[in-house]
Amino acid sequence: MAKKTSSRADSTASFGAGTALADAGEAPAAKKRSSTTKASTTKASTTKAGAAKKGATKKKAGRSAASSAEKGTSRKNAAKKRAAKKGAGKKKSGRGAKTKYTAKTADRHELYQLSVQSPDADVDFLVKTYRKLRGQKPTHLREDFCGTGYLMAEWLRRNDANTAEGYDIDPDPVEWGKARNFEGIEDPFERAHFHLEDVREPSRVAPQVRTAPNFSWMIFTDRPTLLSYFKAVHADLAADGLFIFDIYGGFEAFEEMEETRRIPAGFTYVWDQVSYHPATGDYHCRIHFRFKDGTKLKSAFDYRWRLWNLPEVVDIAREAGFSAVDSYWEGTDEDGESGNGEFKKHAKGENCPAWVTYVVAQK
Ligand SMILES: C[S@@+](CC[C@H](N)C(=O)[O-])C[C@H]1O[C@@H](n2cnc3c(N)ncnc32)[C@H](O)[C@@H]1O
Repeated sequence: MAKKTSSRADSTASFGAGTALADAGEAPAAKKRSSTTKASTTKASTTKAGAAKKGATKKKAGRSAASSAEKGTSRKNAAKKRAAKKGAGKKKSGRGAKTKYTAKTADRHELYQLSVQSPDADVDFLVKTYRKLRGQKPTHLREDFCGTGYLMAEWLRRNDANTAEGYDIDPDPVEWGKARNFEGIEDPFERAHFHLEDVREPSRVAPQVRTAPNFSWMIFTDRPTLLSYFKAVHADLAADGLFIFDIYGGFEAFEEMEETRRIPAGFTYVWDQVSYHPATGDYHCRIHFRFKDGTKLKSAFDYRWRLWNLPEVVDIAREAGFSAVDSYWEGTDEDGESGNGEFKKHAKGENCPAWVTYVVAQK
């Protein structure tokens, strides 16, 4: 089918190709999208140096300071900016700086965690929301599509009484994460249990909070399958349980384009929206990494999702039995252009070029 417009000259050619390193079973990769201008969102646009890692929502086309799938807090933004400044005088930075990351030596799970995940911000939101709605702190978490268990580890770190269960069908990220993410945590594998099972399998202990972060649930590409997943989640939650997941959208989500972001650890993250088919919602995205020595890791992660829209997902969650389903939208930063990391319930949302919201479904 001929494309009417495309910001990516090569997107058709890229479709279905170059997935040698792809992990087809993997779901969503949270994209912490780069701070790019609208004009520069054509192929391989570049992130502003030192841009805040957090700040999910791009408020204005053309002038964003941070964009889409980055969720976080303004507090953390400020801390990161301070840390970046601090390091600047001590280490050689920018072009020519030596880093340990090259295509040969880098580990894709480490690159993913550094680029994509914000477990501290996610756990902040889970705890804050549960306390607000249920008047107490939650202790038992279930993470669906848990991968390396990065978020579960953060959950355990918050409180010695906290426990977690993680569900993922792939032993590779699970084993990687168990070996690396739980260092320094008291009794980690007595408190956190990984299950190499489909996310539709029931929990061992009914969770107070169950989460599916970074859009992983978008691997369910038809309505009956998504409904059956939501029904399984609803049945599985504790009586006062919450199911919290994220979703992204905005007109830039539909564009075939690449965005890049420099990661302070010393490499470049590339979020590649390869194709979107409006008749089906089929959405193909990839993550690539580029290194300072000129080498690349192409298609380190490959996603075949459906780009769902928010109202239809809310309807499906209600049909699954949830008593209330609300979306939480990010406030605006002082710059008036990017998100501030503070998510609040909002009935209508905001028509930003790129947004991420949390959906909170109450049992
Ligand atoms: C991109 S990772 C998510 C990692 C992490 N949770 C995050 O927030 O970024 C998606 C994971 O979903 C897992 N997965 C895909 N389909 C699944 C299913 N039906 N049941 C359980 N895990 C599944 C994959 O093995 C992969 O580890």
